[in-house]
Amino acid sequence: MQAENHKTVLPTLIRTMDRLSDCVSVWKTAGDRISVVPTMGALHEGHLSLVRAARENCDRVIVTIFVNPAQFGPSEDLEKYPRTLESDLGLLAALEVDLVFAPDQSTVYPDDFGTWIDPPPLARRLEGELRPGHFRGVTTVVLKLLNASRADEAWFGQKDFQQVAVVRQMVRDLNLPCEIQVGPVIRDSDGLALSSRNRHLSPGERIQALALSQTLRTAAELIQDGERDAHVVMTMMNQSLIDGGVSQIDYAVAANPATLETLQRITFPVVLLVAAKVGATRLIDNCLVE
Ligand code: PAJ
Repeated sequence: MQAENHKTVLPTLIRTMDRLSDCVSVWKTAGDRISVVPTMGALHEGHLSLVRAARENCDRVIVTIFVNPAQFGPSEDLEKYPRTLESDLGLLAALEVDLVFAPDQSTVYPDDFGTWIDPPPLARRLEGELRPGHFRGVTTVVLKLLNASRADEAWFGQKDFQQVAVVRQMVRDLNLPCEIQVGPVIRDSDGLALSSRNRHLSPGERIQALALSQTLRTAAELIQDGERDAHVVMTMMNQSLIDGGVSQIDYAVAANPATLETLQRITFPVVLLVAAKVGATRLIDNCLVE
């Protein structure tokens, strides 16, 4: 039997705003519905799930790959952030992505760049408190990517729960003509939420990291069993992380999903959010209980 000749066609790679604009104009004229999936690359199944959902919903799918320096603090892992463009393109080829937009830094932030988004108060809590300037960088780059792609919809993962909330509010506040769509947290079979940063975990740390998703599951069960004192739930979350070998806890809270304010009494829906360092790797995870 003769082997079939499978040819992988890589998606079109575009690096400049002008070429992106040319492609998008043609699609717009044809009346195509365009979706964009903003990423920083080092793609995994979490990203790919968003691309698949976008593919189902729209005529055209743009994936952006840009490690956005503006959202990293001075002591954060910008240099260490994995950059794997070749293999990312290979993964996207199988998903029939129309275009990959991977600009370099000077394309997104030319020397004379000077306009920044001032994100809403929601962005000052949790991640925003620990990573000053993070959401200023996220909202500014997301706004630029939404504008440049002229997307009808943009896909984000619930993995970054606060990011979704902040982006949603920006889109509402600034009347952006783009629908925000959200995909669920994609996990490994043992529960660990997929993240580009997981590759930095040693085998021992990989096991410790399971404490995050386990803690969320146990806390959700506690609430489902009737616990309504948020302090009890949060104390349990902290203890469960420590018992799992995770001691550098940034937060472990039960919060209102709309405002991200920490709750005193559990009301529904409630979001449980954790952030902690496992070794040198900072991980986040969350779980919405409705
Ligand atoms: P990045 O971390 O690459 O994530 C890109 C998108 O994939 C985000 O919407 C994120 O929530 C989603 N994602 C990551 N891990 C996921 C998982 N396990 N399950 C489901 N979705 C997951 O988030 C960013 O990049 C940047 O902040 C960005 C929005 C691109 C702006 O620079």
